[in-house]
Amino acid sequence: MTNDAPVFAPALSPKEGSEAATALFREVFEAEPDGVWYAPGRVNVIGEHTDYNGGLALPIALPHRAHLALRRREDRVVRLVSPQTREKVDVMDLDTIGPKGTPGEVEHWASYIAGVAWSLERDGFENLPGFDAALVSCVPLGGGLSSSAALECSAAVAIDEVAHLGLAGTAQEPDDTGRARLVTSCVRTENEMAGAPTGGMDQSASLRCREGHALELDCRDGSVTHVPFDLAAEGLALLVIDTKAKHSLDDGQYGARRAACERAAEILGVELLADIAIEDLPGALERLSGADDADELVKRTRHVVTEIDRTRRLVSLLQDGRPLRGEKLAEAGRLMDASHESLRVDYECTCPELDVAVEAARAAGAHGARMTGGGFGGSAIALVDADAVHAVAAAVADAYRREGFNPPAFLDAVPAAPAGRLV
Ligand code: GLA
Repeated sequence: MTNDAPVFAPALSPKEGSEAATALFREVFEAEPDGVWYAPGRVNVIGEHTDYNGGLALPIALPHRAHLALRRREDRVVRLVSPQTREKVDVMDLDTIGPKGTPGEVEHWASYIAGVAWSLERDGFENLPGFDAALVSCVPLGGGLSSSAALECSAAVAIDEVAHLGLAGTAQEPDDTGRARLVTSCVRTENEMAGAPTGGMDQSASLRCREGHALELDCRDGSVTHVPFDLAAEGLALLVIDTKAKHSLDDGQYGARRAACERAAEILGVELLADIAIEDLPGALERLSGADDADELVKRTRHVVTEIDRTRRLVSLLQDGRPLRGEKLAEAGRLMDASHESLRVDYECTCPELDVAVEAARAAGAHGARMTGGGFGGSAIALVDADAVHAVAAAVADAYRREGFNPPAFLDAVPAAPAGRLV
């Protein structure tokens, strides 16, 4: 054991976030913003790599948020700044920006913000005004916690208001139908402007979650159910372990998984793998066994179909009205553990840092643990007793030291509110 305390990444309070974004806006643009909007990062409790297969996911919004101080302009210019780029403001024009790989390509994080205006215009909201915006985010970058979706969704709620689109409602009284339309434009931004072929789970979580609840998201039709998930009231906590292992969704691995699922669905004659019921899985795997890349297709399909089933089972467990303890808690933990195993063995999207994190957490008393998000690095989650959070974090940090990995960071994942306006 060691005396070094594990590092917890704090969330900026709403006041700190809005003050920091406003101060940066004033410093750089020498004016007052029209307001400050925010959007949260997320962790997914279960239901991984199911969204683009039309299946179920169960994310929660984090208290860690992107804050955007923004002021409408009367021309089509967009100027963006963050604390890391205050020396060099990004300037672009909504008439000339375009998707990744075209002459109008927008670099880095600016594509997630200006790109939302571009996407909204493609989705029918024409001739949007330009804007100046200052970003301050405390969602860890590249940690698999949807730092990019937080940028997109903060831009979406801000543009919605300053351009009078009337889609978002407020964080307290959200317009869920309007928000589902904003999700579509944010996903388009991620896919086309940033070139990452992701599904819609992250943006749905950031825009459609509710405080104290997990979001059961049916990615087939975009319908949602808010599942009570007040872990603190049950004496539990969800510990997030940011492995600090590099994680990227546009390096080909994520796209290769998605393409394999599409090939499998085509061979099976279904639109999406979510169309395969769990009872029909053995027959489906048998039919895939004749394909050229049978080994890959069988494994990917088995993960997707069993993961949707695990998600359904965890949701009904959480909805049965009984306290989350005893055998019910053990079963919830087993479902999380089985999800990780399936992602490790069948989806092959974990990495040594993720596997060590979940093993060390379980050995230190976690009820269940799994990777969360796209994988290949990023973060893991562990369901732990509230009074064991620090001991489990310390055990994971120790295991990392023994393995020679970079030190991990930790977050306390309290189910928080969806995107909205702060001031
Ligand atoms: C990333 C993507 C999501 C989803 C997850 C895996 O977070 O952005 O759309 O596919 O991976 O569940």
